[in-house]
Amino acid sequence: MLNPPINRMGGKSRLRKRIINMMPEHTCYVEPFFGAGWTFFGKEKSEVEVINDVDKELINLFRMLKEHPEEVERVLKYEIIARDSFKEYKEMNIEHMTEIKRAVRYLYLINSSFAAKGGSFGYGALKKPNQKIFNQDFEKLRDRLKNTYVENKSAFEIIEKYDRPGTLFFCDPPYLGTTSYQDEFTLEDHIILRDILSNIQGKFILTINDHERIRELYKDFYIEEVQVMYSISREKEARKGYGELIIRNYENTEENRKKDNKLL
Ligand SMILES: C[S@@+](CC[C@H](N)C(=O)[O-])C[C@H]1O[C@@H](n2cnc3c(N)ncnc32)[C@H](O)[C@@H]1O
Repeated sequence: MLNPPINRMGGKSRLRKRIINMMPEHTCYVEPFFGAGWTFFGKEKSEVEVINDVDKELINLFRMLKEHPEEVERVLKYEIIARDSFKEYKEMNIEHMTEIKRAVRYLYLINSSFAAKGGSFGYGALKKPNQKIFNQDFEKLRDRLKNTYVENKSAFEIIEKYDRPGTLFFCDPPYLGTTSYQDEFTLEDHIILRDILSNIQGKFILTINDHERIRELYKDFYIEEVQVMYSISREKEARKGYGELIIRNYENTEENRKKDNKLL
């Protein structure tokens, strides 16, 4: 399975196998809330594919990886991971930068920041600087993105644009009750999303935090609870879990359920 070039809060690295396993047959695959795209990079190509996010800099990165990966790779060769360079990139005015330089800047800031949030330089007395920025397989990334539509619109618009009977939407919106993204996703937005998804011709899989309001909103659909485990202490490898819901507008097959049990 291919990994994305960046990390992103709420990324589906731990759940993607399970999500991919429950995908029904489809001709068009759409991720309206792309983020780092763990699920997209983990799955086989579909006939038509669409990735979308409202974050302009994030989408510019994927467009450049699709259109000019060799240039991104060339510019990256001049970089080193250092606090000064991080600060310089962070304070740069991106208005007059080329799209390639903006993509490198974004890749740099996300991959060398604390918790991949792009806010402050990530460092530690017990670990060397994160090398993820240099360890990319640009050829594979380009190949994966080659025939994909890369969009930068609101998820609502994208769902309406690409909805057909053969479309599968994998929706991974920001959690309800968190305000950590640049663009907040409110309860009203979740209600609009539910209303749109309730009327599509295609199929959807939605992942979201286990929240009473969400359960209520999607009570007419298939809801599965999952516990996502993560390590809280590197030394002790302590594990803690949080509840997440996988919601669909179609029933999972018995065969898929059996495969799921093997993944647990
Ligand atoms: C939970 S993250 C997706 C994580 C992704 N599944 C992964 O594996 O990395 C949610 C994403 O939705 C985007 N987003 C927030 N509001 C949006 C909107 N109205 N339309 C489209 N994207 C939006 C955020 O920028 C963020 O990247």
